[in-house]
Amino acid sequence: MSDEGERVNSLVSLLKRRGIIFPAFSIHGGVAGLFDYGPVGARLLRKVQNQWREHWISKGNIVEIDSPTITPESVLKASGHVDAFNDHASECRSCNAIFRSDHLIESHHTNPDSLDSEELGMIISNNGIKCPSCGEQQWHQPRPMNLMFPTRIGATGGGRAAYMRPETAQGMFVTFPMIQRHFRNRLPFGAIQVGKGYRNEISPRQGMIRQREFNMAELEYFIDPEAVFENDLSNWNDTRFQFIPDPKGGDSETIEMMISDALDSNIIRHPVVAKFMAETYDFIVSIGADPSKIRFRQHESDEMAHYATDCWDLEMFGSYGWIECVGIAHRGCYDLEAHELATNSNELRAWREFSKPIEVEKMVASPISSIVGPTFRERAKDVGDALMSLDEMPTSFPFNLLLDDGTSVSIEENMVEVKQIHDMIRGEWFIPHVVEPAFGLDRIIWHLLDHGYEITEKEGEEYLILHLSENVAPYELVVLPLFEKDGMSEIAHQIRTKLISLSGINAYYDGSKSIGRRYARADEIGVPWAITIDYTTIEDGTITVRRRDDQSQIRISHDDLIQYVSTNSLNTLF
Ligand code: GLY
Repeated sequence: MSDEGERVNSLVSLLKRRGIIFPAFSIHGGVAGLFDYGPVGARLLRKVQNQWREHWISKGNIVEIDSPTITPESVLKASGHVDAFNDHASECRSCNAIFRSDHLIESHHTNPDSLDSEELGMIISNNGIKCPSCGEQQWHQPRPMNLMFPTRIGATGGGRAAYMRPETAQGMFVTFPMIQRHFRNRLPFGAIQVGKGYRNEISPRQGMIRQREFNMAELEYFIDPEAVFENDLSNWNDTRFQFIPDPKGGDSETIEMMISDALDSNIIRHPVVAKFMAETYDFIVSIGADPSKIRFRQHESDEMAHYATDCWDLEMFGSYGWIECVGIAHRGCYDLEAHELATNSNELRAWREFSKPIEVEKMVASPISSIVGPTFRERAKDVGDALMSLDEMPTSFPFNLLLDDGTSVSIEENMVEVKQIHDMIRGEWFIPHVVEPAFGLDRIIWHLLDHGYEITEKEGEEYLILHLSENVAPYELVVLPLFEKDGMSEIAHQIRTKLISLSGINAYYDGSKSIGRRYARADEIGVPWAITIDYTTIEDGTITVRRRDDQSQIRISHDDLIQYVSTNSLNTLF
């Protein structure tokens, strides 16, 4: 096995042994593509989710919502997922094993996502591609397979057709009117959602990279397509981003430049997309990813999702090569328009005020008050308003006029006078556009683990360290009594309780086995700091502070410790 393969196996086995992440339902034989986060991993996931929330909510015009994961079919029909959310599957005629067709031809085409069934079938047969399971070369023609998990809601009449959501995004689109009201109708604004997504992958592989139930975190940012965005990108002037622009694709043509230059030279096609790419990069670095292992790859036009007009993947490099971890897509008005059309509504719109009202001449059906008043009495005003709002002038009488309350009245010819008036148009309704950064959290977490994993040696034995950022480490500190006797464990418990209440740090107590074993356990789950209570602590109140990353140690009083921990400045002591 290659060194890299051994390294991945070693990491996977550590993740399992230490209760971080492991295959789900293994006592029942396991299910490919489903994973558990254990006692340590669930904390890591929660911290990444919370950092992500804070990152976006702190911008001020972004709010969090939480939608159901079970979604009626009509929603996903409107969004295009029922018809277009497919991968191609190739089934072996000999052993019936099934594979993603694009994966089979990966080394024969630079952009397999862009191919249809026929093209995929040709490449498979022209290149004599063999079944990875049985080695035969007998394939059925590739066929599209929808990736959603179908379900039914309720029992009446067999229930209503539904799916487990393939993305959280639709929850933000269908609640757009409520989100817009929250922001007092002022674009731009955004909504985020963190939660599960479900995709019935054809043949999941690469461990945590391709899961059937996975943790998503998505932002939908609603903008006026005619607004001029002068986003300041100067914060990133010192950062050289790696870009692979359309249409080159592949791994070769990486260019390095400032994000503002990529925007100015139209490599990035929209300023809001550029801003979110930079913000996304900052987030990924802030939780501990190695900046040299991050790049942005633009989708080729025939590779983009059915809803996108420009799309960039933030890819992270790790044991599986470059992997898409975030998609930043300009979705245009695709989704809001699709839901309007499907529901025959006009609620998914925003109002754009003109800088100067426009004066127009227009024809109106003006009510003749002396007739309309006595005929309709208390409803006369509603009838007058409805007449004045008619888009088309009546040509035959009597006709039925629909009122705002849903009722209708019959209008005679003598009730109306068609005339020309001056009118001022102050603005117009339009369907907002959407820019969406969509994060696959499990893939990101895998890369944090991968980037932070060090296999080293201590006293002739293998020694493992997870260098996780303090921002996401499952625990920030462990409190260790040298021995569980002579009052040391009582002091350790007291210090831990005080640390938690005064600084809010995530600290745990560990008293089992030798101190060396306990340091090693803490290093393996990425705890940045360990403090040790020993006989000297009993004498003078000082404790040892040990730093995970270089295993250096200092001694300070435990009162000082609380202060340094509270101000997040333990590192300054070393
Ligand atoms: N909403 C983006 C995605 O599903 O990947």
